[in-house]
Amino acid sequence: MSLETETLNADANGVARAARYLNNGALLALPTETVYGLGADARNARAVARIFEAKGRPHFNPLIVHVPDAAAARELVAWPEAADRLAAAFWPGPLSLVLPIRPESGVAHLVTGGLQTLAVRVPAHPVAQDVLRAFGGPVAAPSANPSGKLSPTTAAHVLSGLSGKIAAVLDAGACPIGLESTIVALTPVPRLLRPGGLPADALEAALGLPLGGAGSGIEAPGQLASHYAPRAVLRLQVTDPRPEETVLGFGRVDSDLNLSPSGDLVEAAANLFGHLHRLDASETTAIAVTPIPESGLGRAINDRLRRAAAPRA
Ligand code: TXA
Ligand code: MG
Repeated sequence: MSLETETLNADANGVARAARYLNNGALLALPTETVYGLGADARNARAVARIFEAKGRPHFNPLIVHVPDAAAARELVAWPEAADRLAAAFWPGPLSLVLPIRPESGVAHLVTGGLQTLAVRVPAHPVAQDVLRAFGGPVAAPSANPSGKLSPTTAAHVLSGLSGKIAAVLDAGACPIGLESTIVALTPVPRLLRPGGLPADALEAALGLPLGGAGSGIEAPGQLASHYAPRAVLRLQVTDPRPEETVLGFGRVDSDLNLSPSGDLVEAAANLFGHLHRLDASETTAIAVTPIPESGLGRAINDRLRRAAAPRA
């Protein structure tokens, strides 16, 4: 699929158009003080699925959700005292906090990759602030580069990787920091998951204690083999399900639940975690998944299903 990617100026008109794109479920690259983000409405599973499609990510890494202030963050995640301290000291700014997600957050499962935690960030860039306030909802945004490429710090970098794959890029010149945000998990012990634009010693000073390092926990949760395994036994690429199996279908097949009856991989990605949750909440003990093509988003879908099917640790 190829779009004409629009370059928007960072003025009132451009910001209004940017917010409209987000409202319509389209992809918008937007400036932050760290790097350009590839934004979509975090509550719209299909829009979030398009992020992974545009980046060509072979797996569903969890995404950072951007909000205009700490009050908006608190609607999405549980809020320990340490979050108050860090938010008061460093937000808005280059810090992402990983906290337990609230069940009523409304954020699509695909954003967290099925995890019970959510990364939230309040960017300081005035244009990011304008877009978040004009849009009025949470924006999921990884860095706006194709998978495996460098993070973009100008609109030209964004276009060189994603032109034709996103609706628009909002051009506010070069990102002042040019390094991704520092990611800290507060679940509940503070741990540094990724060094970034905010130095770790500043964080430790604000917390009054040393940070646990990456390595003391999950850094890339999407990579764990049996991460997010449903209770039931799962078989993949099944063309002749057994009578006792509940069939999770894709495309025009007989099934109990279908990821996309029309065979649309974006729809299937958007439905994946919700359907797995539904199956998990049901009585079923055996799930058969019909074949899903190993192309485009199908790679990420199959990757996640293989992890769900892997023997439990
Ligand atoms: O500066 C930044 O952080 C930029 C701008 C656009 O905000 N975003 C960014 O996103 O760098 P991305 O997707 O390239 O990197 C996000 C990292 C990933 O390594 C992901 O694994 C981690 O955040 N992450 C997101 N949610 C997480 C969670 N719930 N638990 C642990 N790690 C998480
Ligand atoms: Mg990135």
